[in-house]
Amino acid sequence: MKLPAFILPKPNMLKTVYIETYGCQMNMADSEVVASILNKNGFKLCKDINDADIILINTCSIRENAEKKVWGRLKSISHLKKKKNGLIIGLIGCMAERLKEKVIEADHLIDIVAGPDTYRELPSMISDASGGHRSVNVLLSLEETYGDIMPVRTDPGGVSAFISIMRGCNNMCAYCVVPYVRGAERSRDPESILREASKLFEAGYKEVTLLGQNVNSYFWDSGNKKVNFAQLLERTALIDPLLRVRFSTSHPKDLSDDLLHTMAGYENICRHIHLPAQSGSNRILQLMNRGYTRESYMERIKAIRSILPECAVSTDMITGFCTETDADHEESLALMEWAEFDFSYMFRYSERPGTKAARKLKDDVPEEVKKKRLDEIIALQNKLSARSKRKDIGRIFEVLIEGFSKRSDNYLSGRTSQNKVAVFPVKDKKAGEYASVRIEICTSATLLGTIV
Ligand code: SAH
Ligand code: SF4
Ligand code: F3S
Repeated sequence: MKLPAFILPKPNMLKTVYIETYGCQMNMADSEVVASILNKNGFKLCKDINDADIILINTCSIRENAEKKVWGRLKSISHLKKKKNGLIIGLIGCMAERLKEKVIEADHLIDIVAGPDTYRELPSMISDASGGHRSVNVLLSLEETYGDIMPVRTDPGGVSAFISIMRGCNNMCAYCVVPYVRGAERSRDPESILREASKLFEAGYKEVTLLGQNVNSYFWDSGNKKVNFAQLLERTALIDPLLRVRFSTSHPKDLSDDLLHTMAGYENICRHIHLPAQSGSNRILQLMNRGYTRESYMERIKAIRSILPECAVSTDMITGFCTETDADHEESLALMEWAEFDFSYMFRYSERPGTKAARKLKDDVPEEVKKKRLDEIIALQNKLSARSKRKDIGRIFEVLIEGFSKRSDNYLSGRTSQNKVAVFPVKDKKAGEYASVRIEICTSATLLGTIV
């Protein structure tokens, strides 16, 4: 029977979407933007993939393994397509951008391929796909920041939220795919960032993390108004002393004293800087096109230690970049030992097609050597992390409580300003509140203490 037009449901009405996210914090934030765009267009979000009419996989391309994971996941959900007539599967994000139409050639079950700057088009792409037309849109934009979109939080009533303050990257590190899949760097209007942070605080959130591939180069210029990252950070901190502010990632070549002094001026700006070194060897840093030397990196660490003595520092390291020798590797180990990083993310170099390293340099370090070097830096970091936690024993830290500990509802878990996880017995406090906790012992990953 044909329904009269006025009672026909809107085509997207009540269609259910499931979003799954891979990759970095920025991708997590993007999924919340996608959720918001789809919500506004009459779609409903669901938490169980089996309930979905539309499955969107938000993907990462940073290393080959990140992509392998997504291909594996697509394979494992392919049976759903047979089970549910008309099910739409979309690949969105960085891998969609990198592979473009090739995604559909590689996997015939995919109906939508949407790059990171095309999320506003998703409702119409879904309509096309519902009509049986595959849809690919991977246009990158010089302006899109989704600044006007209030993301839908996946954890309403949560304690901590991410806010994207910029998109893209202009740095062109030789190994990195990000500039190709995320496009040129652009900063978001500070007023929209501050509005979002204030709304989150009003909704009960107690911590925001300002996100960008290189937050230090955040710069808003609208002619008569100019705002740099230190100023944005200060204004975010001024929203309320009870709102903690974090940020990631800082690039060593752009970390200014001005920013460190701003941090020092506000207790609610967390004492933690993620400052990826990637390597301790000047020759490798130059090949990587990182824009700093071992010495200037060390000088930045010294500045942090002198202006912010309580500040934790974490890093990213890559082993086995093109031409890396044992001597280069030893320099990485020595830098880590010298800097006494509190925490590190460590990776084996993975060649990404199209990057400068892939075009100009030979991926000549054998996999087993990359792996051996990675094992060595992981072992060293484990030692440094344990040392960093042992130093906290006997001291009192303000902890923002995030909820019960994973193991037991008799314990609460939260993080110190330095971003270390602390676990302690429940005592008249709950998630979203601050507690002063005396640290008594530590495990390899956690500080254990009691509320004082
Ligand atoms: N913008 C941030 C990092 C983004 S990617 C910065 O510049 O620090 C996160 C980390 O992934 C990088 O710091 C780097 O350590 C790692 N990474 C990026 N490309 C890689 C590659 N091709 N192989 C291995 N690790 C890589
Ligand atoms: Fe990649 Fe370098 Fe940009 Fe970080 S700064 S995203 S490593 S190109
Ligand atoms: Fe991955 Fe894209 Fe983030 S490549 S690391 S999801 S910006």
